[in-house]
Amino acid sequence: MRSESKDGRTVIVIGGGAAGLMAAGTAAQEGARVILLERNEKVGRKLGITGKGRCNVTSNSDPKRVIENVTKNGRFLYSAVNAFPPSAVMAFFEGLGVPLKTERGDRVFPVSDRAADIVNALRTFLRRGGAETVRARAESLIIENGKLRGVKTDRGEYRGDAVIVCTGGLGYPLTGSTGDGYALARQAGHTVEKPLASLVPLETAGEDAQRMQGFSLRNVGVRILDKKGKTVYEDFGELMFTHFGVTGPVILSASAHLRDFEKNRYRLIIDLKPALDEKKLDARILRDFEKYRNREFANALSDLEGRSMIPVLVERSGIDPEKRVNAVTKEERRRLVELFKGFELELTGPRPIEEAIVTSGGVSVRQVDPKTMESKLLPGLYFAGEVLDVDAYTGGFNLQIAWSTGRAAGRAAAEGKEKPMKHINVAIDGPSGAGKSTVAKLVSRELGIVYVDTGAMYRCVGLHTIRAGLEADDAEGIEKLLPGLKIGMEYVDGTQRMFINGEDVTDLIRTPEVTRYASAVSAIPAVRAFLLDTQRNLARENSVIMDGRDIGTVVLPGAEVKIFLTASPEVRAQRRLLDFQAKSIDITFEEVLRDIKARDLADSTREIAPLKPAEDSVIVDCSYMTLDESVAAVKGIILKKL
Ligand code: DC
Repeated sequence: MRSESKDGRTVIVIGGGAAGLMAAGTAAQEGARVILLERNEKVGRKLGITGKGRCNVTSNSDPKRVIENVTKNGRFLYSAVNAFPPSAVMAFFEGLGVPLKTERGDRVFPVSDRAADIVNALRTFLRRGGAETVRARAESLIIENGKLRGVKTDRGEYRGDAVIVCTGGLGYPLTGSTGDGYALARQAGHTVEKPLASLVPLETAGEDAQRMQGFSLRNVGVRILDKKGKTVYEDFGELMFTHFGVTGPVILSASAHLRDFEKNRYRLIIDLKPALDEKKLDARILRDFEKYRNREFANALSDLEGRSMIPVLVERSGIDPEKRVNAVTKEERRRLVELFKGFELELTGPRPIEEAIVTSGGVSVRQVDPKTMESKLLPGLYFAGEVLDVDAYTGGFNLQIAWSTGRAAGRAAAEGKEKPMKHINVAIDGPSGAGKSTVAKLVSRELGIVYVDTGAMYRCVGLHTIRAGLEADDAEGIEKLLPGLKIGMEYVDGTQRMFINGEDVTDLIRTPEVTRYASAVSAIPAVRAFLLDTQRNLARENSVIMDGRDIGTVVLPGAEVKIFLTASPEVRAQRRLLDFQAKSIDITFEEVLRDIKARDLADSTREIAPLKPAEDSVIVDCSYMTLDESVAAVKGIILKKL
């Protein structure tokens, strides 16, 4: 277990990819103590293979053009990209001793053509700031009483003031991108948009692509039509045939526009000779035919197209391959021209997400501050890079996003101006044994809000009454006990412990006898009034999930979320029986069921604050739900509200 440094802040960065390295180095540069958690042996593995090992660092363009090339949520990136634009990124790497060059399409590469130089430069950047890299896999966030405290990993806990999640998307799992960050985001209540392959090769119908596998086309025109014949993408550049279909820069870029393979059928139209119009192309073909006048048609195309493609072209032209070229008719030539200007392949779908260079989807940007990348739900939590629901076309734009968001998050996390989390009160009412406390406890832990078990307070009054030797229905006597009773609550490791005048009674208040007393004393108005203030104060000062019988109706009528969690008496009795058995308390199913029914009756027919659903509550019947399902249902209702 590591602890926070005394002066300055500790920032934990999860994931040593492009965004994580930038975030970690930046936070360290800003004076924070930085721990970078990376599950791989080495940082920057995916960076090392991008751009065919050359690393297309950024696009030599202005922020406006970067945003225009973002497929999804461009506006969210405006502030971060302006604060750390491509010009600054280029200066940054050159400053670290990596000279850069700009190639066709404004793509920026290291002069050395070595992606490793970029990774090494980032390592130097981290070292200079004193950031420490630890090989560990982040398992969950440590959230205590609504506050982010650090990260639990497979190698122990790391505590800090801020956590930056830079775990990437789902593409290229071999480099370590496995989507761990999505689970961390969900733990803090974030919505994660379904990850989809974005920059990904495409599969084609038939066997033609396979017949030409390994063959690259440079400088071709590409158009993609949807099933209605509308052009959905048009570009110019390089593509390659593979055993499954097509890949290469134009195809990857195009793939980001084809999001609807389920409903749509897309056709890829390749213009093999974009520099020649039909007339010029026909003249060119004629010239070649003249040159090879004595050959067979199939052997006369070698100046026009690469060898691997000729058999497919010949076959598609419908012209007899053995025909002498001088016998090819004008009509046949016209067909040939058409074929060169519009070589068609049917696209059947993207390759699996693992083969995607970039995934779209991820942590919804609606819940993230665009200036700082800080979570709007859990202060101190930040996101950067591909884990966010942003993605762009090829050309260095995706890495630019990683640098800009990593920079913003690193800076803000080191500075740490935390905004308070949105205050929310959740009321969960319902009969005993429905699983309120178990569910509420788990949900509170996942969302990082305080769990308040009000039943435990009534139980304390019950135990106090027993100890004073009073009968449970001695309202007057019990009322007189109250001024001498101080109920305390403390949270130890996220669990609520109960105290009576300083004595820890957490385990003593769960016996059947105390349970009966608690139910009886809870019908006494003076007891309810006595506990009401404490409960309301807790809810005013903290975001709480409070469970009980009258939380939505009496204690917190203004709660943002009200849930009535219930189940049939038999199901509840069975669950309670298991609890008792686990504690070796000797009791039969019939006895438990009888107690439950008696308590239901008492709790719901008493005059003061009877058990009933608030009018604006959502009723969840969990008789046939597993615990996980109940937790998911309750969490879903709360998150919708958030
Ligand atoms: O939830 P529990 O079983 O620990 O609650 C013990 C008793 O306290 C229960 O019989 C009803 C009472 N109670 C109440 O009247 N109002 C609340 N808000 C919570 C509990």
